[in-house]
Amino acid sequence: MKIENICCIGAGYVGGPTMAVIAQKCPDIKVTVVDINSDRIAAWNDKNLKNLPVFEPGLDNIVGSCRDKNLFFTTEVDKAIDEAHMIFISVNTPTKTYGKGKGMAADLKYIELCARQIAKVATDDKIVVEKSTLPVRTASAIKSILDNTGSGVKFQILSNPEFLAEGTAIEDLLHPDRVLIGGDTSTKEGNNAMKALVEIYSNWVSQERILTTNVWSSELSKLTANAFLAQRVSSINAMSVICEKTGADVNEVAKAIGMDSRIGPKFLKSSVGFGGSCFQKDILNLVYIAKSYGLNEVADYWEQVIKMNDYQKNRFSDNIVSTLYNTVAGKKIAFFGWAFKKDTNDTRESPAIQVAKNLLNEQAYVEVFDPKVKSEQVFKDINNNNSEDLLKVKKNPYQVADKAHAIAILTEWDEFMDYDWQKIYDSMLKPAFVFDGRGILDTNKLENIGFVCYKIGMG
Ligand code: UDX
Ligand code: ADP
Repeated sequence: MKIENICCIGAGYVGGPTMAVIAQKCPDIKVTVVDINSDRIAAWNDKNLKNLPVFEPGLDNIVGSCRDKNLFFTTEVDKAIDEAHMIFISVNTPTKTYGKGKGMAADLKYIELCARQIAKVATDDKIVVEKSTLPVRTASAIKSILDNTGSGVKFQILSNPEFLAEGTAIEDLLHPDRVLIGGDTSTKEGNNAMKALVEIYSNWVSQERILTTNVWSSELSKLTANAFLAQRVSSINAMSVICEKTGADVNEVAKAIGMDSRIGPKFLKSSVGFGGSCFQKDILNLVYIAKSYGLNEVADYWEQVIKMNDYQKNRFSDNIVSTLYNTVAGKKIAFFGWAFKKDTNDTRESPAIQVAKNLLNEQAYVEVFDPKVKSEQVFKDINNNNSEDLLKVKKNPYQVADKAHAIAILTEWDEFMDYDWQKIYDSMLKPAFVFDGRGILDTNKLENIGFVCYKIGMG
């Protein structure tokens, strides 16, 4: 089957960048991204490319070069589904906030709604590709919904998990370590569907980097990859606590172990904790799956990765309180950074949120500066009307630092390193504290200016 028309349901952090890259690399394919959120679609269609709803380095150029040529953003979901040969599902799958599996299992209601919509609208055979992160065996649920439409339309379900990391999404999409495609390897139709998707990626990814597996291996590989990556961060964060007690330097330890080719250097940067929409959600999912099979030891093993991460976030705010003479009530704490990592405007599960909640709970004034996150988002993340008086968001880091007792670095934005730290010091109350939760600042330089510095994992 030659694919000439693709539809993607969900114009978020995954769907938007992924489809932009497919459109750029496959000029003969018409790519339509649909979403029920009309504000989001309007932002994707904004003439000023700086207003795209997702900030990713390089994304604006790609969207600018393909939009309205072979890349379209629209709210006309049914029309796009009907016209497409291949439909990607890239809707959100947050952790359930109600009922069975609350706080753990993935909420699949958006996925199911998509499947039902496809079933309702489709008039000819379609390949449906799961892009959202899903628990193992979701593909079979989608298939069951689609196969029971009674319309005679035939569907093939593929799993094609996304491994892009925010902030480097375009680079990751253009040069992926691997592309994983899971499908029904036991039938001719299943193999043909996989071949069709392999052909799309072959436009820019070499054959040896495109892996094909059965659907369940593909689904589980995504959860496993995220669990392993998060586990590395929690492992180095666990060592950061020991470093602080013993006088070792966690960056030196990370470098020393990272040079062991069996361990490797990546994902060993100790921090205030990991955030993002995937790590916690996927591990909780894994824990839930393990528990549902009665595998309690496996569940406990992975759950510890999250407990360590919570500990790291709380430890950071506790340290601010204890260092500021055991009280932050009425004191201004300046937050540099709110996004869960640099080069993104995404704040989902950002450690800044928990650290801010803890400090607000202690009646501190928290003032936030982030180069890309909008103030409405910060207030939404805190979601507590009682904090309105205590929480402020400003567009200028120097204003945020003015008369602050302490600065807390929550995101590793490069520009923080280039600030005029003497000017910041002069405007702060003394002693002026810096709590570097990302280990990016030159503490020797800051200490020479007069700052009192705390850096994660430094004794
Ligand atoms: C992750 C996976 O990397 C990606 O493959 C998957 O598709 C989605 O989930 P993402 O959450 O966008 O991507 O970013 P990632 O770079 O993995 O960072 C996650 C969190 O871990 C961030 O908060 C980051 O600051 C933190 N982190 C990462 C560390 O604290 N230390 C590190 O060494 C690496
Ligand atoms: P991700 O990081 O997985 O891309 P986002 O929340 O950024 O998650 O994006 C998911 C998008 O999917 C949202 O913009 C949401 O409005 C959209 N969406 C959810 N359900 C549907 C649906 N049934 N039809 C169309 N769009 C949907």
